[in-house]
Amino acid sequence: MRGLEGKAIILTGGASGIGRDAAIRLAEEGAKVGIFDLNEAGAQEVVDSIGADRAAAYRVDISDREQVAAAMAAFESHFGPTQGLANVAGWDSARLFMDTDPAVWDKVIRINLYGPLVMHHVVVRGMAERGFGRVVNISSDAGRVGSSGESVYAACKGGIIAFTKTLARELARNGVTLNILCPGPTDTPLFSDFTKDMPGGDRLAEGLAKAIPLRRLGRPDDYAGMIAFLLSDDAAFITGQTISISGGLTMA
Ligand SMILES: NC(=O)c1ccc[n+]([C@@H]2O[C@H](COP(=O)([O-])OP(=O)(O)OC[C@H]3O[C@@H](n4cnc5c(N)ncnc54)[C@H](O)[C@@H]3O)[C@@H](O)[C@H]2O)c1
Repeated sequence: MRGLEGKAIILTGGASGIGRDAAIRLAEEGAKVGIFDLNEAGAQEVVDSIGADRAAAYRVDISDREQVAAAMAAFESHFGPTQGLANVAGWDSARLFMDTDPAVWDKVIRINLYGPLVMHHVVVRGMAERGFGRVVNISSDAGRVGSSGESVYAACKGGIIAFTKTLARELARNGVTLNILCPGPTDTPLFSDFTKDMPGGDRLAEGLAKAIPLRRLGRPDDYAGMIAFLLSDDAAFITGQTISISGGLTMA
C-alpha cells in the first residue's frame, strides 16, 4: 500500500481484537503506531511484538480529554506530527432496550460516541492545521441496519457514521479524509462477553455463522487490510464513505 511508510498513526483499542491486528498490520506497512488503550499491559504486549522503533503504548481512556491530549503530545514528541487516526476502541453489553439501565447507557455512550468525539477534537485539529490527515472510524453494522440487544450501542455507532460524514465535508478543504468501516459479528473478546450476556448466547455464534453468506464469523485480521488501505495514499480520493465487512451478512 502506498504512503504508509514512516507515517505517524494513532490507533485506539489496539490492545485486543480488531485493533490489535490493525496495529500490527500498520506497522508491517511501515507506519509508526501509537496505541491508545485502557489496557496498558495488552497494548504493551502488542508493542513488544512490533518493536519499540515502530510502536508505543499509552494508557488512555479515550473519553478523558486530558489523557488523550497528554498521550498525543508524548506520541508526537517521539514519532512526529500525527498523520493518521484509527478509532477502534469500543464496548457493549447485551440487553433488550426495555431492560437496560440508564447508568449503562452512560458507559456505552462515553466509550462509543463521546470518546471518538474527544479523539477527533484533540487529534484532528493538528491534521487540519497542517493540511493532511487520514481517519478511519470503526462503527458497526448495528449502526446501519440495527441489532437486537444493542440499541444504545447501535445509536452511538449510527451517530459515528453521521459524525464522520459531516466532518469529512467540513475538513475536505484541509486535506483530511475520514471514512467508516462497519464490521459484522467478529470473534473477539468483545463478542464473547456480549454473547455470554444474551439468552441463548452460546448458540448465537453458530446461528450467525449459518446466516452469514460466507459461512463464518469475522476474524480480527479480516479488517486490518481495509484499515490500512483507508489510511494509505491509495485512498486519497475517498472520503465520507461507509464500508461494511461482514461476509455478506449485510449488503447495506
Ligand atoms: N467484535 C464484533 O463483533 C464487532 C462488530 C462490529 C463492530 N465492532 C467494533 O470493533 C471495534 C473493536 O472491537 P473488538 O471486537 O476488537 O473489541 P475488543 O474488546 O477485543 O477490543 C476493544 C479494545 O478497546 C479498548 N477500550 C475499551 N474502552 C476504552 C476506552 N474508554 N479507552 C481506551 N480504550 C478502550 C479495550 O481495552 C480493548 O483493548 C469496536 O469499536 C467495536 O464496537 C466489533
